[in-house]
Amino acid sequence: MIKVSLKNIKKVYDKNVVAVHDFNLDIHDKEFIVLVGPSGCGKSTTLRMIAGLEEISGGELYINDKLVNDVAPKDRDIAMVFQNYALYPHMTVYENMAFALKLRKVKKDVIDKKVKEAAEILGITDLLQRKPKALSGGQRQRVAIGRAIVREPQVFLMDEPLSNLDAKLRNQMRAELIKLRKRIDTTFIYVTHDQTEAMTLGDRIVIMKDGLVQQIDTPVEVYNHPYNLFVAGFIGTPQMNFFEGELVKNGDVYSVSLGKDCPAAALPESMQKALKGRDGGKKVVLGIRPEHIQLAESAGPDTFSGTITVSEMMGNEIYIHMDFLGNDAIMRVPTIGLPEEYQHGVIKDKKLLFRMPAELIHIFDAESGVSVLCGEAEDK
Ligand SMILES: Nc1ncnc2c1ncn2[C@@H]1O[C@H](COP(=O)(O)OP(=O)(O)O)[C@@H](O)[C@H]1O
Ligand SMILES: [Mg+2]
Repeated sequence: MIKVSLKNIKKVYDKNVVAVHDFNLDIHDKEFIVLVGPSGCGKSTTLRMIAGLEEISGGELYINDKLVNDVAPKDRDIAMVFQNYALYPHMTVYENMAFALKLRKVKKDVIDKKVKEAAEILGITDLLQRKPKALSGGQRQRVAIGRAIVREPQVFLMDEPLSNLDAKLRNQMRAELIKLRKRIDTTFIYVTHDQTEAMTLGDRIVIMKDGLVQQIDTPVEVYNHPYNLFVAGFIGTPQMNFFEGELVKNGDVYSVSLGKDCPAAALPESMQKALKGRDGGKKVVLGIRPEHIQLAESAGPDTFSGTITVSEMMGNEIYIHMDFLGNDAIMRVPTIGLPEEYQHGVIKDKKLLFRMPAELIHIFDAESGVSVLCGEAEDK
């Protein structure tokens, strides 16, 4: 049983650079946690503090209820895999993997068993006698992971382990990490700037920006209920469309006006409840994901009109870019069942009718950026 708790963790580098503000998270036994966010948001700093490679400026770090702020890295029972997997060039794969155990004076036959087991899990048994320079990027990365596996750490820390690989290999290794996780069944804390890795690997993901945690939730929750504009824009490709508008109150029913020549966007029951008591006229941002906008065949009270600027044929779907009330908007439309005329690439300047289903709309307070479903709270 292993539990990692970060309580009000803070990092201030010299010259008063605050890299991490008040980070709070309880990581459960065998959980796969992903820290994700743009470059410079404090992911590596947080991970390095957990590893003990970086001093903690404020707050407490607990591993199994033991305060470890001042415990040396080697006594924390964690293993780290870095982005640049720094293998020892003069050693074989076998020696690279055995090295940490040798230092710990583990018996030769035990080392041999562990190295061979890890090699088997990672599919690198044939490579054990090679030197790193005779390996591909993906193979090297496997060796780096193998080096961590043999130590049987309670917690695995990984800092962008796939970012040096090309796109195809990265996809392959991502799938392998999912399998690996099942086999070694331990706690993972994984850092990436790639939202796809975060969504596919994480049990929960922590989205960070400028050293501040924006949201901690399961991938599905983050996708369905982004806490604020930043999270909404960060998760999902192409990114969510945002349109500025104004809250309209008609009796007890709220909708959003996006402009005077277009219908007000209807809002679902859940949002009506959350908005209850608010005044109309408030500036809001309406968000809708490209995959949630629907083409409409004929005009109706709930259809909006845009003008196509560019269309991108992806095979299974088309990304249609349009100008909508002066905004750039994008919709993802499955190719199957689409009118013939859309299937041949760009139809520039064509007018287009579409719907934004109420239950797929997100509304954010324009000032705070926080989703109206999350109430007025501004302290997350
Ligand atoms: N050793 C350091 N000294 C001073 N500032 C640093 C140091 N390491 C990182 N930083 C700063 O801390 C912030 C967070 O960096 P980092 O944790 O590396 O971000 P990420 O891993 O999310 O890209 C950045 O502004 C970075 O410039
Ligand atoms: Mg980093």
